[in-house]
Amino acid sequence: MQPLLKAENIVSYIGPYTILHDVSLEVTPGEAVVILGRNGAGKTTFLKTIMGLVHTRSGILEFDGETLVDKETHVIQRKGIGYVPEDYGIFDLLTVEENMRIAMWKEDAETKARCDWVLDLFPDLKLAYKRFAKTLSGGQRQMLSVGRALVNDNRILLVDEPSKGLAPVIIQTLAGALKEISRTTTVLLVEQNFAMACAVGQRFYIINEGKTVESGTMADLIQNKELQAVHLGI
Ligand SMILES: Nc1ncnc2c1ncn2[C@@H]1O[C@H](COP(=O)(O)OP(=O)(O)OP(=O)(O)O)[C@@H](O)[C@H]1O
Ligand SMILES: [Mg+2]
Repeated sequence: MQPLLKAENIVSYIGPYTILHDVSLEVTPGEAVVILGRNGAGKTTFLKTIMGLVHTRSGILEFDGETLVDKETHVIQRKGIGYVPEDYGIFDLLTVEENMRIAMWKEDAETKARCDWVLDLFPDLKLAYKRFAKTLSGGQRQMLSVGRALVNDNRILLVDEPSKGLAPVIIQTLAGALKEISRTTTVLLVEQNFAMACAVGQRFYIINEGKTVESGTMADLIQNKELQAVHLGI
């Protein structure tokens, strides 16, 4: 099957700094793929490179057979790439409802149905629907950030370390929700929380110092304690 997302030997840079040196990865439609790696490995930079927020110097970066290199972020997003950034990217002075509506490409019946689905997936958001986003807890903000990326008819969801800074019980809730999402949406998840990665991912890639160094099935990684110790600090 043709990959939905394909990166080959990606080199990308921020200002004078080359951050990614050689990242390669493929995601086929329907898959849930996890990117693992230590702090500062380049995971966030890779997702930002896909979204056109970080510049690609060389390599192939394609979505559904079309290049993403040198495309503007809004164009990339409109191809059907939902992005949940590391810092949530929600608007504090808007309500939960407004945050969801501002993200919508259309206000048709399908979008409304997806929005209802998000609120069923995250009952907390339904309860807080009319509240300002600034009043939400960290976990609820993460739910809003994920939920907002689901209101459009996206073909892949990129999620950057949703577990960061959250309590274990909230991480479990989010892992369950992401697992549910992955039943109908292709997912590329960046995670350092191994339990979350295992709950959601089918395959993995490990990025280290801006390079893809390992890949395989999640089942293989669970068996491979040495790999976990070297690259994940488990
Ligand atoms: N704006 C920037 N200017 C200079 N260097 C940067 C910038 N953003 C990130 N870097 C560097 O790029 C490297 C990769 O950072 P990145 O945020 O992609 O790592 P990460 O794998 O997402 O880490 P974490 O798990 O801590 O989120 C780090 O060494 C970081 O210091
Ligand atoms: Mg990061």
